[in-house]
Amino acid sequence: MNIRRYIEERLAEPLSKLAGRSVPAIVAPSARAGFGDYQANGVMPAAKSAGTSPRKLAEQLLATANLAGVAEKLDIAGPGFINIRLDRAWLQQQLSAMAADEHLGVDRPVQPQTVVVDYSAPNLAKEMHVGHLRSTIIGDALARTLGFVGHKVIRQNHVGDWGTQFGMLLAYLKLQRPDWQSGGIHIADLEDFYRQAKQLFDADPAFADAARAEVVALQGGNPDSRRAWEMFLDESMEHCRAVYKTLGVLLADSDVHGESAYNDDLANVVADLDKAGLLKESQGAKCVFLPEFADKDGDITPVIVQKSDGGYLYATTDLAAIRYRVGTLKAQRVLYLTDGGQALHFRMVFAAARQAGMVPEDVRLEHVPFGVMLAEGGGKFRTRTGGTVKLIDLLDEAQKRARAIVLAKNPELTAEADEVAQIVGIGAVKYADLSQNRNSDYVFSFEKMLAMEGNTAPYMQYAYARISSIFRKAGVARESFFGRAVELAQPEERALGLKLLQFAETIQAVASECLPNLLCAYLYDLAGAFTGFYENCPVIQADEPTRTNRLALCALTARTMQKGLSLLGIRTIEQM
Ligand code: ARG
Repeated sequence: MNIRRYIEERLAEPLSKLAGRSVPAIVAPSARAGFGDYQANGVMPAAKSAGTSPRKLAEQLLATANLAGVAEKLDIAGPGFINIRLDRAWLQQQLSAMAADEHLGVDRPVQPQTVVVDYSAPNLAKEMHVGHLRSTIIGDALARTLGFVGHKVIRQNHVGDWGTQFGMLLAYLKLQRPDWQSGGIHIADLEDFYRQAKQLFDADPAFADAARAEVVALQGGNPDSRRAWEMFLDESMEHCRAVYKTLGVLLADSDVHGESAYNDDLANVVADLDKAGLLKESQGAKCVFLPEFADKDGDITPVIVQKSDGGYLYATTDLAAIRYRVGTLKAQRVLYLTDGGQALHFRMVFAAARQAGMVPEDVRLEHVPFGVMLAEGGGKFRTRTGGTVKLIDLLDEAQKRARAIVLAKNPELTAEADEVAQIVGIGAVKYADLSQNRNSDYVFSFEKMLAMEGNTAPYMQYAYARISSIFRKAGVARESFFGRAVELAQPEERALGLKLLQFAETIQAVASECLPNLLCAYLYDLAGAFTGFYENCPVIQADEPTRTNRLALCALTARTMQKGLSLLGIRTIEQM
């Protein structure tokens, strides 16, 4: 059960009655231990709008709030905050229910939604870059979490597989590999290939003409160009697949629904915008002008949907994609994971789609932006020679370093070293990204992400492995504690129990706010609460029934950690 929401609902009703209108109770976990478990902050704004003293309103609220059996103590702090200390027996009851629940107490939504998650989406003309790494990692964590919560998740890999740059690439492919028809082409370095094609394009007018002719041929459906294009895409996707496989993300070939998939619908999109009376011509281009995108002089930045030469744009494709997602996939919520630089694009496309009646009112379109991944020192992420960092090299390096660290810590792991290195190294890369608020930029540092201390994957994985070792020492299976009622006698047991119970509200917050860092912060706190417990409450040495009770707490902690990490796309190991 979502405790936070439960208390919030319990308090909002009497508070609204007292305030004379519907007001929220604004409940949050207490920032400081000793002040209670939760704090309600809604009294002051409610008093302000009701024109009474917050203190008085708080007193009235305490007199009428029905938290009997739930809260052990309610008191007023400061001008009108309410501190809530939960009842121990009630906590035990909730925790026992959690321990008996496959779903670890996370309630399924009353109305499950169909959620489209648009993530990764590299441009297939080039190699995946660090921006796509962030999109892939964060998108995957959200897809997993939303699925676990109980929504129907449809992954969409909106790859950039269309556009004029493909003409250049195809012309170059035919030039470089006259035997391309025989198949089996392999482009080891896509980035280089692109650069060379571009260089030739800029330097050689004859080649530029060939490239433009290739675009026309491809758009006209010329079978020869089409075949070359497909071959090129497949080769480029092969690079992505390697990254996906190494990362262990959910994305499969069947999730690819690239820009080219919308080609046939683009003319319809433009025609429909015209029918809706939204199209205006500006310098030969077809545009949608929305007053909300006017600057202070009243000049509107338009959404351009067709260029004067007839070509369509990124925005046109996104409008077609919205129609497909809403109409065919029946999405009720669509998440778009790209860097913050595309914020305006999405705001404009969403507004145009709404204006055109393409999106029912209750369907939510959400751009989920993220900041930049920076190199150590704070600069742009580049190789020493200024080139693009290949993701696959980055991931290999992470695994290599993880291997060394793991073996230094536990030389007996040689047999499993490769697997452990993969789990720890990739886990570290993912966790370093996910543990930051996605809106901020962050510095990519192997050293920091692989540290055994602090809010890192190795720390979390080690915390998990340590609990596993307790069961090995105790000689009992962790699974045998599934569903066993738990008691919270000692303060550290109570603190751990409360933290465990906060799994539900954390997961639901991640799903609604699209912030995986909340889950990382939670897991880190959980590991801290476990350490506090383990240092103060002997487990294996304890007498029965305490021993069994504490083992049950350990088991639930391990399950919660493992589940939480798995929702981030991070694996655990029993021994580290
Ligand atoms: N291919 C784009 C890029 O590399 C990202 C696509 C995001 N999804 C979308 N529907 N526009 O920037």
